[in-house]
Amino acid sequence: MENLTFFEIAKILISFAICAPSGHNSQPWKFQIVGNTIVISPDFSKRLEVVDSSDKELFISLGCALENMQIAATNYGYLSEYDYTDGKIVVTFTKSDNCAVDTLFGHIKERHTYRGSFTGEKIPQERIDALKSIDNGNGDCVRIFESGTPQADFICRQISEGNTIQMSDTAFKRELLSWMRFNKKHIAQTHNGLCYNVLGFPATPQPMGRTIVKMALNPKSQNKTDDKVNASASHFCILCSNGTSKKDYIALGKTLERVLLTVCGSGLSYNFSNQACEIPELTEKLRSELGISNYPAVTLRLGYGHTPKYYAPRASVEAVMEE
Ligand SMILES: Cc1cc2nc3c(=O)[nH]c(=O)nc-3n(C[C@H](O)[C@H](O)[C@H](O)COP(=O)(O)O)c2cc1C
Repeated sequence: MENLTFFEIAKILISFAICAPSGHNSQPWKFQIVGNTIVISPDFSKRLEVVDSSDKELFISLGCALENMQIAATNYGYLSEYDYTDGKIVVTFTKSDNCAVDTLFGHIKERHTYRGSFTGEKIPQERIDALKSIDNGNGDCVRIFESGTPQADFICRQISEGNTIQMSDTAFKRELLSWMRFNKKHIAQTHNGLCYNVLGFPATPQPMGRTIVKMALNPKSQNKTDDKVNASASHFCILCSNGTSKKDYIALGKTLERVLLTVCGSGLSYNFSNQACEIPELTEKLRSELGISNYPAVTLRLGYGHTPKYYAPRASVEAVMEE
């Protein structure tokens, strides 16, 4: 490790950054190594125009990638800081003899979004308190509600209302379908997207898969699936940003990634149920009903799950690097 140049270390750091989650596994990022910095840029060719027209989730995803990169840097003895200017995140690295390795480092590669129902077991309060204490330093970012409480029931109703709106929207469904990957060959062509094996479906030829999924994309069927997962969750977590700028979403993404790594690192599981945060009128309802003064941006379910058989694919480091 001692003999590696910064360029070589930077490529390793990028390999950790791209393990981050992203909406529809779109991986909307590009990286450039310049001197002792890595520049992270949004890849707008991966925008989710319909579900994320304001690029909120895109910048949250960039924040997750940034957090992975900064955590990984500590393992190689680098302190880092970042700045968001001219639409890009510039991360500056400084070699240090006093750099403690971030304890979340070991969980970056094992983190995954759990697909399926939870076991129903309750998460102990001390674990919930540990998650609540993760913050971006600016305020009240991580709210957690226990299943069965009026607040959690309200969140479930908003998820359901969100499904009814999204699954009745042809443009939403068309976009979602365009990110579905139906067989191995399809995955190998893209290295991104929502993959049949990760979601627990059998492989099918693309036209057949599209037809089957199209039939399943309706409010009734989606609500049936989500009701089952909601009922099995131990807690619901809403992550809130301090404002609505790109900078705020990047900061929230960093906090989100720390929450997700802590969840996976403590033997818990999570999945996203972001419908209500993707529809402004429902987000507003979440705010008023739950007494949230900042901005709900991500909803997670928490619980105990099982080890997945398949992980979501990623494009190679080379594919996301710019000259
Ligand atoms: C901001 C954001 C929003 C997301 N929203 C949803 C969602 O509403 N439903 C869902 O099933 N997954 C959602 N995801 C999870 C992605 O689909 C997942 O991260 C991606 O498929 C990669 O899989 P992995 O997290 O297992 O690596 C979201 C991820 C991010 C970062």
